[in-house]
Amino acid sequence: MKKVPLKHVALDPRLQSINTMNQQKKKSFWEDTRIPNTEHPKPTIAQSSFVSKRRLTEDIIARINELPSLPTVVLKIMELIQDDTSSASAIEKYLRQDPGLTARLLRLVNSSFFGLRHKVASIPQAIMIVGYSSLKSLVLAASTSPLFKGAFPGYGLKTAGLWQHSFLTAAWAQKFAKELGWAYEDAEEVFVAGLLHDIGKMIMSTYINEHCQEMYTALFMANGQLTAAEKTLTGIDHTEIGGRIAKKWNFSEKLEFIIKAHHDLSVSSISEKEVSLIQLVNNIVTKTGFGMYENFPLNNNLPELCLKTLEISPDTIEELQRKVISQGEITASEL
Ligand SMILES: [Fe+2]
Ligand SMILES: [Fe+2]
Repeated sequence: MKKVPLKHVALDPRLQSINTMNQQKKKSFWEDTRIPNTEHPKPTIAQSSFVSKRRLTEDIIARINELPSLPTVVLKIMELIQDDTSSASAIEKYLRQDPGLTARLLRLVNSSFFGLRHKVASIPQAIMIVGYSSLKSLVLAASTSPLFKGAFPGYGLKTAGLWQHSFLTAAWAQKFAKELGWAYEDAEEVFVAGLLHDIGKMIMSTYINEHCQEMYTALFMANGQLTAAEKTLTGIDHTEIGGRIAKKWNFSEKLEFIIKAHHDLSVSSISEKEVSLIQLVNNIVTKTGFGMYENFPLNNNLPELCLKTLEISPDTIEELQRKVISQGEITASEL
């Protein structure tokens, strides 16, 4: 494959429009001290043979088996979310056993995403103010946040960037689902899907983070298509790995499907409404660039099929985009 000097990659006009919304005061991808930053970088796409790439794919898949099971509290909260008859006392019981989780939860409740006038200091108070159903989703977010809090430079994400991206995708997907008049259970479901949609990056990053420059070049060569770039380098992508993690952790079939399909622009008829919403919100949150390095060459074109499936107008998208941008920056810094 033809080698592309990085300085040419960064200046290519085809990519300049992609990150127009990333023009905020943040460190550039190449300014971070953890990332090799040379005057004359020589990125190369891995020239791996078919056999060695297949071995790499197998190695990445094998790492899923090394993942520990999900903490009991996460499983229990996921059960409670699906159970309409569960009560606030059930969730309080779990929170009492875990002060760290309670602290993370209160931090989320007090973030400006919820715009509360007074700080919430206790769980009963939080239930009273945000309501039991919202609190269940937030407990799930707080209990999974440690999974996402590392740095994922190979994906253009700064420290805690994946957490910010995942939480904002979940919270906005849920909020937007409610605005669209979806049933309560469906809105809860897209919160969980938004939170976990990029879970495959946890495993993929063990390879991708070590090959930031190759990833950058692969992305450029793939016109900013993330899953295509991952496949070029490793033979597999984070949606496929995410689906396998979902299976290992016994997530519902629907959740597994949404995770697998969140970059698939052809959208199958199974759960197409939920897949479309996650694709749309994922796209908007990515475009804002929160938690990301500037100039990371992702293609953020809006998937048109999603708009048709959701039956929403470009004006509605613009409005949503405005809201995410205006609230997102403050919220992201508080998460
Ligand atoms: Fe993704
Ligand atoms: Fe994402």
